Amino acid sequence: MSYVRACLLNEVPEEGVVAVDVNGTRVAVARSRGEVHAVQDNCSHSDVPLSEGEVYDGVIECWLHGSCFDLRTGKADGNPATEPVAVYPTRIDGDEVLISLNTDDQGARR
Ligand code: FES
Repeated sequence: MSYVRACLLNEVPEEGVVAVDVNGTRVAVARSRGEVHAVQDNCSHSDVPLSEGEVYDGVIECWLHGSCFDLRTGKADGNPATEPVAVYPTRIDGDEVLISLNTDDQGARR
C-alpha cells in the first residue's frame, strides 16, 4: 500500500473540502465530523467537481443537482446520482494528509 502526500491537514477546512491534484488525479479531500476523507473529485452523474459542493454530516453534496455522496463509502443517495464515487484510503501523518490512489487498498484499511 503506497500513500502519497495530498495536502496539509490545516488546508482542509472543518466541514469543508479542498481540491488537490495527486499524480494527475483530481481528488477532493474533505473533513466532516472530525474525520478526513478523500474521494474522486468528479460527480458520478456528470463530470463536475465535487470539491465545489458543500460538506456536512459526513457527506459531500454536488453543487449542480444536489446528489449527496457518503464520504466513507462513496455511495450516492440517488438524487439523481446513483453510481458511487471512488473513495481513497486516507492517513494523517503529522500535519500532512496522505492518500492511496489504489482503491483496492480500501479493504486493507478496514
Ligand atoms: S452533476 Fe452531480 S448530481 Fe448531477
